[in-house]
Amino acid sequence: MICLTTTENTLTKALKQVERNKSYIDMVELRLDLLEEGELASAQIFPRLCALPTIATYRRVCDGGKSQMSDKARMTNLRKIVLQGDFSYVDIEEDVKKSDLKIKGEEDSPKYDFENELKQKGIKIIRSFHDMEKLPANLFSLVTKLAKKGDIPKVAVTPNTIIDVVTLFKMNEELKDIKEKIIIGMGDFGVCTRILYKKVGSMLTFASEDEIAPGQLSAKTLKLLYKADQVNNRTNVYGIIGNPVLHTASPMIHNPGFEAIHYNAIYVPFLVDKVRGFFKLAELIKIHGFSVTVPHKRDVLPYLGKITREVKQIGACNTVTRIQGMWKGTNTDYYGFLAPIEKEINDGKIKSALIVGAGGASRAVVWALRNHHVKVTIANRTLEKAKLLASETMSNYIELEDLSSLSSSVDLVVQTTIVGMTPNEDADILEDFTFENPCIVYDLVYKPRYTKLLKRAKKANCKVINGSDMLISQGKLQFESFSGYHYPHWINLNL
Ligand code: ATR
Repeated sequence: MICLTTTENTLTKALKQVERNKSYIDMVELRLDLLEEGELASAQIFPRLCALPTIATYRRVCDGGKSQMSDKARMTNLRKIVLQGDFSYVDIEEDVKKSDLKIKGEEDSPKYDFENELKQKGIKIIRSFHDMEKLPANLFSLVTKLAKKGDIPKVAVTPNTIIDVVTLFKMNEELKDIKEKIIIGMGDFGVCTRILYKKVGSMLTFASEDEIAPGQLSAKTLKLLYKADQVNNRTNVYGIIGNPVLHTASPMIHNPGFEAIHYNAIYVPFLVDKVRGFFKLAELIKIHGFSVTVPHKRDVLPYLGKITREVKQIGACNTVTRIQGMWKGTNTDYYGFLAPIEKEINDGKIKSALIVGAGGASRAVVWALRNHHVKVTIANRTLEKAKLLASETMSNYIELEDLSSLSSSVDLVVQTTIVGMTPNEDADILEDFTFENPCIVYDLVYKPRYTKLLKRAKKANCKVINGSDMLISQGKLQFESFSGYHYPHWINLNL
């Protein structure tokens, strides 16, 4: 189930929020602590009006909410609202004291037992535990303890490493006897647990309307992009590892592709600090293949049983697939870079090229061109690195300051650094390079789509190619490695 957490301060606005998201969600969590005080008096009517199973949650500041009341006062308010309405669930924190749940009321009024009243009304208690900083050491026994009274245990905790994420995924198997439980990994490391909530063993995942905080996903993204609620035992898991990784456009290539060919698979971003930990996760949840981005393209090499010639030459791998129990590494950056200029290369129109940058991306570009007999000159801010790559690939190198000397003599210019990328859109590392002869100008930056360099080149009648062309080409090749099918030609990718 995908559960929308309301973030509005009035019931009317919260209802509108539910309406806008209705086709993406199965249930709602009404956050009473976010409502204005005057709204609470009518909060009981909310479940009936929104017509979806609703959780009543009155969150304290220490657990990430807004309520500053004492537990006693908070529970008194919660009781009033919940017992009058048609709520399906109520969230009560695990450390709320028994004495705060048995509300005495006025002096001569009878004693109430809130938990009993809820049970009699058929409202399920979600017994929640939050840790906004880490994973507690006793996580598994904690869940077992919370489930003891027949309540639904909920743990919302914060993984800080990929190994913490492995611990969360282990809960599925270790706690499989507890059928109804809620497990949420918060923060950036937790994103994969929110998407793959079913593989964690969680009965639901929480979503917001907008992705307002790190780690949060919108209901629309969970439902339409990831189809998180359709994951089952037969779903093959793919993903991308990197650090950072959450901004990546790759899920928008692979998930629609899988859907179009009716392949029961999902592609998820995994924030990874240490590659070693990720391989543990890959074994645990049987990941079938994954993309690799900065800074792990080299780090994965020791774990691969088989690599292609390009991976060996470049010393970097961006695609890993599981073949007959072994991890195989390929490099689709290499072919993805070549795809948009394939015709010109084959027609012999590219004889010489200037490459700016000497990092990981540049290595793939230089090797791809050298293997196609293009004469390459490398320029880089740190000349020493340009020199090294040039000697390894039998290329030339040049100081960035001397670029203008090549203005009329190259057929292709490739910009491989981050210069010109959003938010530094005014930067142009090739500003001294004037396009005296129209050539092909290829900028690996994909945000913005047209960098200052590409705009300038276009004005000078050059053919321009941007980073999203390469991103899409390499993504389509990865899709082939993952699924064994060509990328569906009818999907119009506009990244
Ligand atoms: P990638 O895998 O994306 O190529 P990388 O291996 O970190 O990333 O390489 C970054 C490249 O961009 C390098 O060539 C780097 O130049 P240095 O070798 O001098 O570090 C270049 N680069 C990054 N920021 C730059 C800047 N502000 N000006 C010029 N070059 C820059």
